[in-house]
Amino acid sequence: MLVDRVMAELLRSRGIDLSGYRRSMLERRLEARMAALGISDPDAYLDRLASDPAEHDRIIEAISINVTSFFRNPVVWEILAQSVLRPMIEEKLAARQREIRVWSAGCASGEEAYSVAILLHEILRSELSSWKLHIFATDLSEEALRTATQAVYPRERMENTRLGILDQYFTVKNGLYELRPFVRRMVWFSRDDLTSSRAAPAESVYGTFDLVLCRNVLIYFARPLQERVLDKLTRSIVQGGYLVLGESEVLELLSNLVDRPRSGGDPVDEPNALEHVHQEL
Ligand SMILES: C[S@@+](CC[C@H](N)C(=O)[O-])C[C@H]1O[C@@H](n2cnc3c(N)ncnc32)[C@H](O)[C@@H]1O
Repeated sequence: MLVDRVMAELLRSRGIDLSGYRRSMLERRLEARMAALGISDPDAYLDRLASDPAEHDRIIEAISINVTSFFRNPVVWEILAQSVLRPMIEEKLAARQREIRVWSAGCASGEEAYSVAILLHEILRSELSSWKLHIFATDLSEEALRTATQAVYPRERMENTRLGILDQYFTVKNGLYELRPFVRRMVWFSRDDLTSSRAAPAESVYGTFDLVLCRNVLIYFARPLQERVLDKLTRSIVQGGYLVLGESEVLELLSNLVDRPRSGGDPVDEPNALEHVHQEL
């Protein structure tokens, strides 16, 4: 099958293993890519892949469709501010800690990670400088990460962003919204393949987080890979921390976690592991 040959080629050339991705999704994206090139014959596409190294990157980009926006699904951001970040900050202050670690896994072009940065800035205000905020954001797509570091966005990515936030955190140039440098500096981007066996983004130094967002990424994966990645994400969260998933991502995956032993064979020792996992509404 064409999709198997393309997967084998990408594994060889780029070290990207797509075998755990949903096959129907891979087939659809491959068809769309071939249609865009005006190619209908599978052998002709394989020839193209063999003769044009840039096509390897383009098919990876075609597979990692990265639709996103600032404050995507606003109700989630409201809950994040009121029920997650504010109480987290109170608890940290009570414990005389002033450090918050966040990981946006599958961050696409950065809007999600920057939305967290803006939210923390809004909550902490004049206290911000007395806190250590570490916001790590990773993605498979080099192109998406380039956009993320440039931090210049078209109007449609701002649909859920309040006017006051737009004024304070962006400058508008030629109809494009440029994030102000003080917010850009709050987020650290790097390339990371969530399906790799590495526990957390290499740059994050210590691999545990108070908050992990992995929204609209698990939908790419078939069930066994979803479980493996979810397991890796939950292991990277501190006790009492939070995981935010996308709305279409399945709750039943989380219920499996409650009974599952942690690495080293220790049983999950929280009274209810689900208490530490926040499913996006
Ligand atoms: C639809 S976007 C989600 C963006 C953002 N989290 C949101 O919900 O708005 C999915 C992202 O997952 C990334 N992705 C897919 N497979 C990945 C992998 N194995 N490792 C890291 N990122 C991956 C894609 O490149 C894409 O940018």
